[in-house]
Amino acid sequence: MTLPTLTDVRNRTDVAIAPLLAERWSPRGFDADHQIDRDDLLSIVEAARWAPSAGNTQPWAFIAARRGTAEFDSIVTALAGFNQAWTPAASALIVFAAVPERAGKMAAWVDYDLGQAAAHATMQVEYLGLRAHQMGGFKPDAIREAFNLPAGVVPKTVMAVGQFDTSADVAPEIRQRDTAERGRLPLTDLLIR
Ligand SMILES: Cc1cc2nc3c(=O)[nH]c(=O)nc-3n(C[C@H](O)[C@H](O)[C@H](O)COP(=O)(O)O)c2cc1C
Repeated sequence: MTLPTLTDVRNRTDVAIAPLLAERWSPRGFDADHQIDRDDLLSIVEAARWAPSAGNTQPWAFIAARRGTAEFDSIVTALAGFNQAWTPAASALIVFAAVPERAGKMAAWVDYDLGQAAAHATMQVEYLGLRAHQMGGFKPDAIREAFNLPAGVVPKTVMAVGQFDTSADVAPEIRQRDTAERGRLPLTDLLIR
């Protein structure tokens, strides 16, 4: 099987865009030997923290765990189906949780804002030369239980962060997904005017 190169996975954009965006993609084949620095992991959460939000309500909270910790293992256990197969090789897992209410004030754009925080985190991951893969396939109650989360903190997604593994060590069922065709709807179909 031919291994994907950066050129293969580079997003075939209709119009040139910033390299960090053009080269972003979501692999599953991570290098199980790669370790992420604590400060690098914190910088990813810091990027999320500085995302814009409606009225600066910041309706989010995060759990960041590096591979080799009990917290990391708890998050893997909460993942669904195939997500449990490839995430153990990630260098870190980050839970993105919504916090709809702070100090009695309800945020109005919670999911929109949380998505922006995740997008900002993803760009910081790319800046670090790493890759991010977000997941909705997990059991929120398992995260809630493992981390004793209060009712007002709602886990929404999990982001795997790591170094893409181009070696032959990656299992074929993971490699197959990473070499599958990636694409988008044409810009002309999306641009209403
Ligand atoms: C909210 C959200 C949930 C996702 N859930 C999963 C998931 O559970 N498992 C998985 O392997 N990928 C998941 N993905 C990754 C998407 O399938 C992926 O981003 C999409 O196919 C586009 O590929 P690209 O990121 O490489 O451009 C999710 C992405 C997002 C944004």
